[in-house]
Amino acid sequence: MKLKNVINHFHNLLDAPLNPEDAYDIWASTYDLEDNNLVFKLEKEILDSFFVNINLEERNILDYGCGTGRNWKRFISQNPKSITGCDVSSNMLEKLKQKFPSYTAYLIKDDSSLPFLKSSFDFISSTLVIAQIKNLKKIFSFWNDWLKPGGIIIITDLHPEILKSGGKRTFQDNGKTLEVKNYIYTIDEVMKLCRTFNWKIIETKEKFITEEVKHYYAEKNALHIYDKFSGMPLVYGMFIRK
Ligand SMILES: C[S@@+](CC[C@H](N)C(=O)[O-])C[C@H]1O[C@@H](n2cnc3c(N)ncnc32)[C@H](O)[C@@H]1O
Repeated sequence: MKLKNVINHFHNLLDAPLNPEDAYDIWASTYDLEDNNLVFKLEKEILDSFFVNINLEERNILDYGCGTGRNWKRFISQNPKSITGCDVSSNMLEKLKQKFPSYTAYLIKDDSSLPFLKSSFDFISSTLVIAQIKNLKKIFSFWNDWLKPGGIIIITDLHPEILKSGGKRTFQDNGKTLEVKNYIYTIDEVMKLCRTFNWKIIETKEKFITEEVKHYYAEKNALHIYDKFSGMPLVYGMFIRK
């Protein structure tokens, strides 16, 4: 058994949250098969509304924490000049490369820098990632370097309020529920950090757990979770301009 698998095995026994690298290396085989995922549905509504005001034609895109490239069809449909991805999970990147073989994606470790020149990108997307980044200030400062003046950043993630109230980022693996480790950044903290780089927050959107989505929980035999979190914001998104 590989050392990594041994570590995962003990993590599982202890039910401790997994590091993103390990978690997504496991989740990669089923991530694109996620069916009826409420987070994806609500996040898509946020992205749809942001994308009304985004034109990516001939633009250079960076997808930070790109995973399997869930949003890349949306990007490609707008004829961008380039799309570059980066992620901490080699298995997620492997899936992305199978789907989009002609694009470049980097494997990153320990929130380290990447070989991009200043002002390389017009658009940075980071969807469902930032609460897994240990040193958000450092990453924002990389983005600030790599993004052109006037460039756009789109962030989405699980809402900090739900994470603070015990909500978890989980997935199923062989009948077992595994959890990914999160760092909680409140919306105020994210906004404050944006302002330290003089970025302008154009819009923040939140999506709530309402009666309308109760059936998602019912279908997964998770009405107890619905009862616990009903009325709370589940996902948020931020549209930012440098
Ligand atoms: C929920 S997935 C989202 C993937 C993709 N952005 C999407 O919207 O489907 C989170 C992704 O972030 C990556 N990730 C987690 N922590 C990261 C970090 N510190 N830097 C870069 N990527 C990270 C994970 O490996 C995973 O692929």
